Amino acid sequence: MITTICLNPCFDKTVEVDSLEVGQVNRTREARVDLGGKGINVAVVASRLGLDAQCIGIMGENGAEELSRLMDAEGLNHEFLTIPGRVRTNMKICSGDGKGVTELNEPGEPLDAETLKRFTALAEEKTKDSDMVVLTGSLPPGCPEGTYRDLMLALKGKKCILDSEGRELELGAREARPFLIKPNLREMERTLGMELRTMRSIRDAALIFLRLGVEHAVVSMGAMGAMYVSTRETLFSPALRVTTKSTVGAGDAMIGGMLLGYQREGSMSKAFRYGMAAGAASVMTAGTQLIIPSDFERLLDQVRIQEV
Ligand SMILES: Nc1ncnc2c1ncn2[C@@H]1O[C@H](COP(=O)(O)OP(=O)(O)OP(=O)(O)O)[C@@H](O)[C@H]1O
Ligand SMILES: [Mg+2]
Repeated sequence: MITTICLNPCFDKTVEVDSLEVGQVNRTREARVDLGGKGINVAVVASRLGLDAQCIGIMGENGAEELSRLMDAEGLNHEFLTIPGRVRTNMKICSGDGKGVTELNEPGEPLDAETLKRFTALAEEKTKDSDMVVLTGSLPPGCPEGTYRDLMLALKGKKCILDSEGRELELGAREARPFLIKPNLREMERTLGMELRTMRSIRDAALIFLRLGVEHAVVSMGAMGAMYVSTRETLFSPALRVTTKSTVGAGDAMIGGMLLGYQREGSMSKAFRYGMAAGAASVMTAGTQLIIPSDFERLLDQVRIQEV
């Protein structure tokens, strides 16, 4: 069983406009609402790829029914504490004139210490049968620095995957020794406060985290590919060439793929290939529709891994 944690779920609303004009009235062409929140995304991808996955978290009571219905429709097991307030909506505006995607993300309902304490108890209970726990996504207002670290420490003995940045990543890596971290390149640069322009500098950056106690690091670089680093080896994989519809959630899909790879192969370095295929498959779907398993299976053979 795999458990993902989602402390700040959302509805992802994707709208299309011919041309986005700031400060003007913009009429949308199409709109769709998907499940959102990184923890939910990872669980959806893992379960679509055939893994036994559940998502646990906290959500506002207003919208909880709809969010639960969408998770049920995915066949996803889930257990969320509800709090006063509403589930946030993150808006993605796709402009047809080549201006790309503009995102407007809400912060989410604030959490207090008491709710976090109740959630920690829920997480301890719900992860009893889990081999792997995934902690990912922005934290809602009110969460103290080190919230992911504290959760990982409470789940002592569980293999944890941490996808975060800045102080959350640093404190988590330093004090709770996650099994895997998966920042993207920009998150890695912001966390360390330095530019990473060469393969060597990216590997050295990953090694800083390995020295802190992280076992495996994957630094994803969008359309450039990704690097896998452990104390034993460094691998690079160029991104697969696919028709890009939306890159939102590619990193989440990558984690879902690596979870499957780890289950099948029993090794994170071998699981890297699965992450590459899942990331590429996810950019082939529009909005935040994540992944179609047949795309993933087809791409798996095409992944090329190089030793660095
Ligand atoms: N345009 C692309 N073409 C092919 N593969 C891609 C593309 N964008 C992303 N990928 C694949 O997905 C992986 C993860 O993407 P990326 O680095 O963008 O993650 P991310 O920034 O964490 O995404 P998110 O947090 O939105 O889920 C990349 O390493 C790559 O393998
Ligand atoms: Mg990411």
